[in-house]
Amino acid sequence: MGKDILEDILQKEKSILANIKNDFEWLHENPELAYEEYNTTEYIKEQLLKENITVLDLHLETGLVAQIDGGQEGSTIALRCDIDALPIQEESGLEYASKKAGLMHACGHDFHTAVMLGVAKVLNLYRKELKGSVKIIFQPAEEAPGGATKILEKDVLEDVKQIWGIHTAPGISVGTLAISEGAVMAAVDRFEIHVQGTGTHAAHPEEGIDPIVVMSAIVQSVQTIVSRNMNPFHANLISITRIESGNTWNVISEKGFMEGTVRTLDVEDRQRIRERLSDLASGIAKSYGAEATLSWYAGPPAVYNEASLCDFARKVADKIGAEVTEVEKSLGGEDFSLYQEKVAGAYIKVGTGGEHPIHHPAFIADQGALIPTVRYFVELAKESLNIEFD
Ligand code: NI
Repeated sequence: MGKDILEDILQKEKSILANIKNDFEWLHENPELAYEEYNTTEYIKEQLLKENITVLDLHLETGLVAQIDGGQEGSTIALRCDIDALPIQEESGLEYASKKAGLMHACGHDFHTAVMLGVAKVLNLYRKELKGSVKIIFQPAEEAPGGATKILEKDVLEDVKQIWGIHTAPGISVGTLAISEGAVMAAVDRFEIHVQGTGTHAAHPEEGIDPIVVMSAIVQSVQTIVSRNMNPFHANLISITRIESGNTWNVISEKGFMEGTVRTLDVEDRQRIRERLSDLASGIAKSYGAEATLSWYAGPPAVYNEASLCDFARKVADKIGAEVTEVEKSLGGEDFSLYQEKVAGAYIKVGTGGEHPIHHPAFIADQGALIPTVRYFVELAKESLNIEFD
């Protein structure tokens, strides 16, 4: 590369990095809910097209995938971010706070998007030296079910050998990377239990079967699954979050309904809890002369980072002098795991400082983390392309 060309590229890179802040602030000011990210998608597209970056023609309603083809033959890897916001009224006090009442980027997806726009632009600048291709997935609807599926349905991962995910980590100092092997986020399942009793006059309980009493016994017993049936060293969780039965004070209702969520990090634990939940509910109901049925709605599996990928990601951090710490595991969910079912991938968190957790109305992702994070993911993409994939 000639000296003048290099100088020109470095100048452009400088201006790209300086501009990430503008993308981040625009995205933060203009949050959109899952499946409604029309303006966000348009904005991302405009930014990419301005730099002559290819946007794949996938006919997605919202979200998009960019592709940067290197000057040399090689494999394809993917980077994935999410673009949707939450139904939260912002209380951050930021100058560039949300302009939309009741909507906020409170999970840092604006940060992820701005970073990946920066990564796309910088990689594009160096595309001649790139060996292979990089797909950058701007996924819609991470907060609602089905966002990752929308992307996967378009066969985006067909030629992809490896995928990397990004997420903000508010408790960690700005720009520090958090990388851990194993299950780092939980499988997310929802369940419903329908209880059929027999309705009667509240003053004649002996003539009916009270579903509220049955459900109370089920609620109490369900919490023994984690404490009595599961390995105490495994993180597992069951929360019953809604109960409904009856509609007045002097009638014992004939049926009841409850729902909740199960969070697990281990595949066998997931299956075991489902079985115990079903057995306990139906057994308890039976002992009262009622009937209970469990309906199970499986969500995404646990996010699982392979140790070898984590070692690789740490080496890349080391190469550019970035700090690395461990990820605090969470029983929250992430549909990034659906990509990991198809190809090897790891989910990396980035310290964004701030006092408040994600999904909090005063959540702030520190802008100081933007440029270091772009630099890291550019390097990670370049280095991943140097791997010899089978
Ligand atoms: Ni998130």
